[in-house]
Formats: sequence, structure tokens, C-alpha cells
Amino acid sequence: LAGRLGASLGLPVYVVGGFVRDLLLQRPNQDIDLVAEGDGLRLARALAKELGGRVREHRKFLTSMVIFTDTQGREQRLDVATARLEYYEHPAALPTVELSSIKMDLFRRDFSINALAVRLDGSFGQLVDFFGGQRDIKDKVIRVLHTLSFVEDPTRCLRAVRFEQRYGFHIGQGTEKLIKNALSLKLMDRLSPQRLYGEFRHLCEEDAPLACFTRMDQLGIWEAIAPQLGLTPTRKALLQRLQEISGWYRLLYFEEEPLPWLVYFLGLNHGLNYALTAEHYRRLGLPEALRAVVLSQREHLRSLGSQLARRQAEGAAPSALCALLRPLRLEFLLYLMAQTSDAPLQKNISRYITQWRRETADITGDDLRRLGLAPGPACGRILAAVLRAKLDGQAPTAESQLALAAS
Ligand code: CTP
Repeated sequence: LAGRLGASLGLPVYVVGGFVRDLLLQRPNQDIDLVAEGDGLRLARALAKELGGRVREHRKFLTSMVIFTDTQGREQRLDVATARLEYYEHPAALPTVELSSIKMDLFRRDFSINALAVRLDGSFGQLVDFFGGQRDIKDKVIRVLHTLSFVEDPTRCLRAVRFEQRYGFHIGQGTEKLIKNALSLKLMDRLSPQRLYGEFRHLCEEDAPLACFTRMDQLGIWEAIAPQLGLTPTRKALLQRLQEISGWYRLLYFEEEPLPWLVYFLGLNHGLNYALTAEHYRRLGLPEALRAVVLSQREHLRSLGSQLARRQAEGAAPSALCALLRPLRLEFLLYLMAQTSDAPLQKNISRYITQWRRETADITGDDLRRLGLAPGPACGRILAAVLRAKLDGQAPTAESQLALAAS
């Protein structure tokens, strides 16, 4: 459709970047980035019209997003950008300039594997590869297009690691040297916390963040961001457990999902004091709205760990363990589970995560009303007591819970 519309508007249109890279790697990718040579906004409006959607425009950058609902009722987004307008400066040499325009656009990108395009109008399906992206995909190499790439954008040091680890590629020799060069020039210091957050979040959302963190450690990237975040053997083992536990939790398909950045932030700051953790929270640009709760739960967890171990050793009932665990966010529960070496306690934490925290009494306030109890705080206390009895196996059925409430 984009190709057809592009052709009718006289705009060469390409799909570019990650979508093309993953197409060649035969990996799924739903993020479609289009680049038009000429007025991309016109193309976006035409696409929105055809798709029954709307356009969000960023006129300053000549980019836009087409938002529409697909045939299965899901909201979809298409990014439409405009390639550089050198195009208009040499109207006489149209074909060459057409290409040089997309060429400029691709040259501004981070790595050769991301600087590929596929033409959609006219010669549909033609692969545009000015910088050896196809060869690098074949050779499994991450390579920048020019020596200033990391100077232009130091987050690319992290992106290089992310793509390398995701695809099992390796960062090319020259590119690795440029990363080290950027680090020794202290370019990481120039990155705003917001930009670091964007990259940190992406890293944590990869299938195997630990491999990325380890590589960052090896290249000195952690050192450059915050020296204390380097991976000690203890922290590495904990992060490994966190990765396994996150995978385990994901396979349970619960609706509630943990924030990956928070899970790994806790692991990376394991054993560090409050002040350093707070400083890392700030440096990584993590969401301000959660800052107080994250830092206070982390402090709370310090004393909770030994309290839980003691209660477990005393053979505490499930309801007693639940009362201790109840204030914790899911990410902290996963973190706690990862650092617990006491097998029975670990099992109970996992039961709490998967079962106990979701339990409710089988009777409701209506049942209590039918027993003649007026609504009020007493009802809440009775239902809480009923739930405790249910968790501890003393009132497993609705009948026994009703009897307990009546008594
Ligand atoms: N890009 C870049 N430099 C950056 C960020 C992005 O050159 N610092 C370019 C790359 O060409 C990339 C494109 O912008 O392909 C889109 O960026 P993004 O969506 O972040 O990357 P993807 O390659 O799609 O990565 P992912 O698969 O992780 O979504």
C-alpha cells in the first residue's frame, strides 16, 4: 500500500532499519519504519486515509506516525519519515539524487546492519545496501558507518552490545576501538539520564540481559556510566538467578508483569548502600514517580530477609509469611526469591507469587450481611481472618469459612 501510494504521489518510499535487518535474519519484527524521499507527511496522510486511521505529525523533523486499527481490531503504528531534501537541490539529476537522498538518510544511522532499506514503490522489493550491511549480517559483525558514530551518539555503545548479544554477532575490531575511544573521551558523561534510561530499559527487555551487562562490563561501559555498577561475581550470580526467575515468571502468563528495568536495577545494585543506589537511580534516569517507593522497599527488604528466614525456620504458617510479603511489589518478590538460598523459604516465596497473593476468601460481604452483620470495619477484619484460615488450610471451603465467620 505504501509503495502504491508513494508511486501515485511521485514519492520514492522505502522500509528501513530494524525491519529490514530482521527480515534478512528471518526474525519477526512488527516495527515498520518508512522513509519517503520528498514529503513524507503527504505519504503519511494518504496512508492514514486509506487505512482509516489518523496522523500524528512532527513537522519540525518532517516525521509522522500513522495510527490505525488493523483487521483484528488492534491498534497499529507506522512511522513515516522524510529523507533529507538534497533531492530538491539537483532536480536535473533525479535518479542519482533520489538514491543519494536515501543514502544520506541511511548514512546517518548507527550500524551497517541497520542501514539497509527495501524499496516499496516502482521496483518493489529492491534491497538498498550502500554500506555492506548484507555482508555484515552474513559475517555476523556489528560495524559503524563512520568514525564519529559514537561521538554523534554515545548511546550507540550500548546499542552495539545489545545487537551483538541479541544476534550472537561480534562487534568488529575497528568499532570496538571506537567504543573504547568514546569511553576514554568520557562521552558517556554527556548523556542525559533520560537517554540512558531509554537504553537501559531496552537492555533489560532483551531475552538475556545478563549477557549484555557482562559485555558492557568487559568493554568498560559500566565503569564509564557508574563505576560501582561493575559486575562482581556475587552480583553476576544473582543477575543470572534473576534472569532465570524472570523467565520462569513469564511462562506463568500472569496478567501482572514486572518492570524489567526495576528487576535488573535491584540486581545490579545488590550490596550497595542507599546513597549509591539513589545516585544510580538518578544517573540511569529511572522514573521519578517510583523513586521513593523503590528506595524505601529496598531498605525494607534488608530487615525483611532475616525476619522471613527466622519465621520460616520457626515453621510459620502461610498467612504469617503472606503478612510479611504483602507490602512488596512484584519486582521485589522476584529479587527476594533470587537471593534466597534457603530452599523451603524460596518455595514459599514462589507459592506466594503464584498462588497465595491472589487468594481471596470464598465468602463476601453479602454473606456476612446475610449472617446479620452490618457493613463496617468489622466485616473487613472478619474477611481477613477468614482468608488467613483459608491460607493456613483451616477453612478450605466456603461452608467452613461461613461457619468461621458466624463464630
Ligand atoms: N538509530 C540510530 N542511532 C540511534 C538509534 C537509532 O542510528 N542511537 C537508527 C537505526 O538505524 C535503527 C533505527 O534508527 O535501525 C530505529 O531505531 P530503533 O527503533 O531504536 O532500533 P531498531 O533497529 O528497530 O531496534 P530494535 O529491534 O531493538 O527495536
